[in-house]
Amino acid sequence: MSKPERTLVLIKPDALQRNLLGEIVGRFERKGLKIIGMKMMQLGDLVVTEHYAHHQDKPFFGGLKAFMQSSPIVAIVLEGVEAISAVRLLVGPTKGSTADAGSIRGDLSMSTQANLVHASDSPEAAEKEVWRFFNTDEIFAYKKVDYEFIYGSDEK
Ligand code: CMP
Repeated sequence: MSKPERTLVLIKPDALQRNLLGEIVGRFERKGLKIIGMKMMQLGDLVVTEHYAHHQDKPFFGGLKAFMQSSPIVAIVLEGVEAISAVRLLVGPTKGSTADAGSIRGDLSMSTQANLVHASDSPEAAEKEVWRFFNTDEIFAYKKVDYEFIYGSDEK
């Protein structure tokens, strides 16, 4: 019996510009992850600076901030057993051109900056990042009819 995890995903401006929102959300849905929060947002300077604070000394920081604010993003909270690592595997490593085929970045992107998706990389990051982008009343607890068939009886 494992406790389900929550993880934050940001669908970045390049994905919306390239009409890949449905494709990307569909991959998370088909995997068996449960969408418990979802909204479109135009990111302000403060939230982007906070979200990428660990990159503030990197040469790409200014460009990354401008890119993330260049058009709206879609923020999603996904839930599932071992969801944080499962989503990172689906997304693939940072650089699209060398990311594994089969992953979102490997199949759909070429860039390091414009890599379509952000996903939390640890339980500590997920906890902080979910509440950075969502309020409690924007997270939904509901029963999903496919639940019994997504996990084995000893995995829920
Ligand atoms: P993300 O997973 O959101 O985490 C940090 C982001 O910084 C990363 O995806 C890329 O969008 C961006 N990034 C990381 N490395 C570079 C780089 N070398 N040049 C430009 N952007 C980068």
